[in-house]
Amino acid sequence: MSIKSQNIVEIEHRVSDQDRWQRQGHKGGVLWMTGLPGSGKSTLAFELERSLFAKGRQVFVMDGDNLRHGLNSDLGFSPQDRAENIRRVGEVAGLYASAGMITVTAFISPYQAARDAARAAAKDRFHEVYLSASLDVCEGRDPKGHYKKARSGEIPDFTGVSAPYESPEAPELVVNTGVLSVEESLALLEDYVAKAFALEAE
Ligand SMILES: Nc1ncnc2c1ncn2[C@@H]1O[C@H](COP(=O)(O)OP(=O)(O)OP(=O)(O)O)[C@@H](O)[C@H]1O
Ligand SMILES: [Mg+2]
Repeated sequence: MSIKSQNIVEIEHRVSDQDRWQRQGHKGGVLWMTGLPGSGKSTLAFELERSLFAKGRQVFVMDGDNLRHGLNSDLGFSPQDRAENIRRVGEVAGLYASAGMITVTAFISPYQAARDAARAAAKDRFHEVYLSASLDVCEGRDPKGHYKKARSGEIPDFTGVSAPYESPEAPELVVNTGVLSVEESLALLEDYVAKAFALEAE
């Protein structure tokens, strides 16, 4: 995104990424979960947060439903508002990653271009995780009853029903939450995090 003002000068931190990572014992970064409504983003994000926290990791979940109450409470579900929603989240997640956190995000984030912008905001610390449960499976689970409402026209612009979902082109990790159990999915994520956020051997 371009910068509006011509008079902004970036200030360098006196604490480096390496300093932060050494102190806490692992790298920071963004684990960006994307998938259809009901694919398991929130379920896995919060379970992962609990398990990583128990292992002493710096970890925090940013979830779509939570952020739409505050930072993004002025946004709806039009393509423009969805893009702005993800732009803000991408920037904040990038900041959290810079602060050393393993930032787990749980947003449908249906557009590849918006996910690519979030990747750019987190620079080389972005890990795209595609929860690949099919529409049939997600609609069959329908944990919030939203698919039913979308089919009856009660919810407009609903991803998978009346709004598009673009599957990731080159995700770092695919978890088939349509076939695997929550425990199996979590094990794959824990494995991935253990490798991707590890400090390099001296
Ligand atoms: N492998 C799995 N991983 C995650 N959830 C699973 C899995 N298998 C079954 N489920 C079930 O699927 C549902 C996923 O719902 P969840 O609210 O986590 O989805 P979501 O992707 O966050 O949806 P939304 O976009 O509406 O917020 C839950 O009821 C969960 O128990
Ligand atoms: Mg959710």
